[in-house]
Amino acid sequence: PYDWYADRRAESPLHWDPDRHCWDVFAYDEVKRMLGDDESFSVNPREATGFQPAGEQTFLLETMLFQDPPKHDRTRDVVDEFFRPSAVKSLEPFIAAESQRLLAEALDESDDGVVDLVDALAYPLPVIVIAKMLGVPAEDREQFKQWSDTIVEGTAGEEEDAEALQERQMEAGMALANYFRDLVAKRREEPRDDLVTSIVQADEDLTETELLGFCMLLLIAGNITTTNLITNAVRTFGEQEYWPGERQRDTAIEEVLRYRAPVQSMTRVAMEDVTVDGKTVEEGDTLVCWLGAANRDGTQFADPDTFVPDRRPNQHLGFGYGTHYCLGAPLARLEASVALRELGTEYEVRPAWEDDDLEPIESSFLHGVRSLPVRLD
Ligand code: HEM
Repeated sequence: PYDWYADRRAESPLHWDPDRHCWDVFAYDEVKRMLGDDESFSVNPREATGFQPAGEQTFLLETMLFQDPPKHDRTRDVVDEFFRPSAVKSLEPFIAAESQRLLAEALDESDDGVVDLVDALAYPLPVIVIAKMLGVPAEDREQFKQWSDTIVEGTAGEEEDAEALQERQMEAGMALANYFRDLVAKRREEPRDDLVTSIVQADEDLTETELLGFCMLLLIAGNITTTNLITNAVRTFGEQEYWPGERQRDTAIEEVLRYRAPVQSMTRVAMEDVTVDGKTVEEGDTLVCWLGAANRDGTQFADPDTFVPDRRPNQHLGFGYGTHYCLGAPLARLEASVALRELGTEYEVRPAWEDDDLEPIESSFLHGVRSLPVRLD
């Protein structure tokens, strides 16, 4: 998409698309301004457009991701402290052990030392970690992972049509909601050292719908995104013939978040008429803020199309900006850092893919590939 961003941004920071019926915003300053101003640019599509959700969308639209303050802050304020870097740090040994286990298992099954990084590590790891963090017992984690996988599945096998997939997804969603409902009830009765217990104890006034919605949100917002961060990192390092050492790893991960942002765009709705670059955005218009384009804006980043592993400062917008700045950013950073560390210390990692064979995942706003073969020696 990067040539498209650059061409359009050179003409104007924002463009109206008559087919999709929305504005596309490409420039760093404008994207940042829109994400930073909840009063003029809402995340709640119902607020300004009267959009009526259906099915499981109803659930998700009630969560913080789709609510403006003050409703947004109700759940965010309760859970914020459990996602701080100091709070997620205790998961490090678990993430390291799981990364090693997943890689060893994948290699065991491979005849030639080549494994698909996505299948082997980047895809399973985030859901295992979030299950552990929430307090899903080890014996339920496989079932939990299957439900979660089904919910985020983009395309099914060729023999399955969209309707059948949707039905399976509805079923998995219900099963997961029931599972969370039981888990919440159990932890209310018998507290444990886990996230569900902590939230229940921190605020007894959160409704069951708010709590369930939040648990579902973690799966939807946190898993494929982290998968893509790990995969995009290995892909980029492979292309650059570079592997970061201990001291560069974390800045290199920030640069991947800029250079190949796993989330490329976020949507907002204008709450009033606004003029940008002589164009009038009208109240109720939808705006697609391209984080991936803002991250390559030459007015903010020198050599924007070059991967600079020790780039500093690096004020990328890969985790968004403002009120909705990613809650899971410290966890995603930790997971990527530990997974890449384990990968690099246990093995020598070499690309086993051809650029032309890489297939992008099907999504209008997520950036990643479906599989990434690597040779592990
Ligand atoms: C919000 C990206 C991982 C939970 C966001 C937003 C972005 C983002 C761009 C802003 C949405 C907006 O402005 O509308 C990413 C990326 C990730 C990642 C690139 C991985 C590399 C995670 C993880 C979790 C998580 C691991 C949780 C376990 C959330 C939540 C929000 C959010 C709950 C909503 C925050 C709010 O509305 O206040 N994320 N995310 N994310 N993310 Fe992440």
